[in-house]
Amino acid sequence: MQIKVNYEDIFERLNGQLPKGVFLNTDFEGKYNTMTIGWALMGICWGQPVVCVAVRFSRYTYELLEQSGKFTLSIPKSGAMTKELSLCGSRSGRDVDKFELCGFKKSNIIDKCDLHIECEVVQKTAMNKDFIEKSIKSRYYRTDDYHMFYFGKITDCYYTKEG
Ligand SMILES: Cc1cc2nc3c(=O)[nH]c(=O)nc-3n(C[C@H](O)[C@H](O)[C@H](O)COP(=O)(O)O)c2cc1C
Repeated sequence: MQIKVNYEDIFERLNGQLPKGVFLNTDFEGKYNTMTIGWALMGICWGQPVVCVAVRFSRYTYELLEQSGKFTLSIPKSGAMTKELSLCGSRSGRDVDKFELCGFKKSNIIDKCDLHIECEVVQKTAMNKDFIEKSIKSRYYRTDDYHMFYFGKITDCYYTKEG
């Protein structure tokens, strides 16, 4: 069962969970993957509610997102799913089926979470390598594995009972 919620009402929940990890789910032609993210921005752009996520080019998630043009964020309850967040933040979907390893139902959401944001990519932009503040470059981009920023318009936002 889905219970709709306004995106304005879940800012604190999303921002509070990001440092611990949120699931970024992608699927394309029957291939399902999820990865843990710690960075995301939610707000208004182009006159509509938008979520921006940062995905490094090396991720399998990047490959799937390039093809599917859509993603979903699934937010665990506070303090929950620490093992799954750790696994999905360290193993690549290129090498393992994370849905199977974690016992998740194959779907565009993580059924063990209770809050979900569905997004359709309306813009993407690669980082400008010529403009990165020095300390950020040395802390996050020593190997030149930069981020693609995907802007997804929020198409649905809801709680599920299973979580
Ligand atoms: C807490 C946490 C936050 C993370 N945040 C991001 C992120 O925002 N962007 C990103 O590209 N990778 C992030 N990662 C790393 C990916 O989750 C990790 O490399 C994952 O194995 C990629 O999976 P994939 O190859 O199946 O896409 C994070 C990892 C952890 C543990």
